[in-house]
Amino acid sequence: MKRETLAIHAGYDGDPTTKAVAVPIYQTVAFEFDSAEHGAALFNLEVPGNIYTRIGNPTNTVLEKRVAALEGGVEALTVSSGMAAIHYSLVNIAEMGNNIVSLPQLYGATYTLLAHVLPKQGIEGRFSQTDRPEDVEKLIDENTRAVFCESVGNPAGNVADLEGLAKVAHKHGVPLIVDNTVATPVLLRPFEYGADVVVHSLTKFMGGHGTTLGGIIVDSGNFPWEKYPDKFYMFNKPEIAYHGVVYVEQYGAAAYVARCRTVCQRNTGATLAPLNGFLVLQGIETMSLRVERHVENARKVAEFLRNHKQVAWVNYAGFSDSPLYPMAQKYLGESRCSLLTFGVKGGFEPGVKCFNALKLFKRMVNMGDAKSLSCHPASTTHRQLTPEEQAKAGVTPEMIRLSVGIEHIDDIIADLDQALAASTK
Ligand SMILES: Cc1ncc(COP(=O)(O)O)c(C=O)c1O
Repeated sequence: MKRETLAIHAGYDGDPTTKAVAVPIYQTVAFEFDSAEHGAALFNLEVPGNIYTRIGNPTNTVLEKRVAALEGGVEALTVSSGMAAIHYSLVNIAEMGNNIVSLPQLYGATYTLLAHVLPKQGIEGRFSQTDRPEDVEKLIDENTRAVFCESVGNPAGNVADLEGLAKVAHKHGVPLIVDNTVATPVLLRPFEYGADVVVHSLTKFMGGHGTTLGGIIVDSGNFPWEKYPDKFYMFNKPEIAYHGVVYVEQYGAAAYVARCRTVCQRNTGATLAPLNGFLVLQGIETMSLRVERHVENARKVAEFLRNHKQVAWVNYAGFSDSPLYPMAQKYLGESRCSLLTFGVKGGFEPGVKCFNALKLFKRMVNMGDAKSLSCHPASTTHRQLTPEEQAKAGVTPEMIRLSVGIEHIDDIIADLDQALAASTK
């Protein structure tokens, strides 16, 4: 089926007991066992079924199946936020003494996780100088456990060369993990270019209405964990944290997510609430339509800004003279993401005046909402980074980031026009 159909139907054939057509919200902590033997079999992962919502809930199972279908993966795990998804995706395979090699163009908290949080637990984050695969390869050594990138960097807007990155990662026997939040599977499916694991903040375009925090980890099922029995011993040797299960034997292609659920999530508990799973499912049903309108409006906004006399620069991968254009063309085709950045003439001061004058665009740190949103990354999302780190992440002091919503384009442009006029006062 095509993605518009999968977004509405994948993972749910109706509730067998009630015949409910909408996905029910299974607001329960635990599930009853038929007998002691049934409970033991569930705990042994010998029979399918639900045990306790911390490690699985039928509402979230539908969401997991739906996003796995949209991305073309074999299995998925929902978690409580995008950051939890990124964290679990890394600690599932890296431990003290290991390192993760990443592109530098990252969402601020992801950068901080790699630069300052994981190193305190003995896992080093290494950032390449540029987003070119050859620069990434220079940082990989025998202790590397993954290459990480955002398919479209937030807020840099760079489109990662997924094919090139997958090639260098695989040459060194490690998976490529991709944060596909900005692009969404509507615009780009990283598994088609060799990525092994995809993570999302469900909080953004998937939920789509700024109501719900969530995250997901999707497994392509393609990485050959069994080929590296020492490096990825956690999938190949009996798991001490789950009474000796050998994940590649019991789960085959779905070993990565199975361990993530039964070790990371079971023991640290960043679980998605079933109500939030339901709200994200509602959002996903209309995601294709929304993303199409987001993309169309963003193109018109980018053109309006580029022609405006108060605007110094616009960073938008849809302009054929943009350095981002070739990669965007390869991976996004004629579409572009609805996240773009610009600078007001005169730099920081007039930029702040413009930002403060916005009325329709909400000033906040979110994106992918149906509403148009604006953000000043240097003072908010990327505030914890030094000026040098900000520059590497693609953030400049005067930069304003727009997440263009799906309101009528005339109203969106009128708001930007009046805010730009205010910047000169
Ligand atoms: C690209 C990207 N990944 C991950 C996250 C984190 O998501 P969450 O806020 O759901 O934890 C964000 C948040 O803005 C993001 O922009």
